[in-house]
Amino acid sequence: MALRQIRYVGDAVLTKVCREVTEVTPKIRDLIDDMFETMYEANGVGLAAPQVGILKRIVTIDVGEGQLVMINPRIIETAGSQTGEEGCLSLPGKAGIVTRPNYVKARAFDEEMQEFEIEGTELLARAICHEVDHLDGHVYTEKVEGELHDVVYEDQED
Ligand code: NI
Repeated sequence: MALRQIRYVGDAVLTKVCREVTEVTPKIRDLIDDMFETMYEANGVGLAAPQVGILKRIVTIDVGEGQLVMINPRIIETAGSQTGEEGCLSLPGKAGIVTRPNYVKARAFDEEMQEFEIEGTELLARAICHEVDHLDGHVYTEKVEGELHDVVYEDQED
């Protein structure tokens, strides 16, 4: 395992649409391990592959309920809304208010390329939406209501 370099807003890689994964190769397993290590080291709860410069549809999430790997994730259902603070490891030290669905149902593939469904509310729903956006070249700042503000701690980063 190794730490990867996190790409920051302004880097063109964060604006690209990522490619679907067709096979989980050893290289992709290493990438996933590295994404978790990089995410934890930065005190994040989610990371998308483009944030470490890889244009593949892979997301790692841990909102405190264990590790979640989502390959080729698709959001298939949403409900309700939540308005709250959101941050991103690609924009350290900043946060902003974003409205997201309060419930999300998503479909994705795991590391064995088995399809699964996951439901999440609150922070997990927010994290899934935020990370799936990254795979399509979007960052949360596009959705911020009002101004970004400075944060002292980065323990709510996505
Ligand atoms: Ni992010």
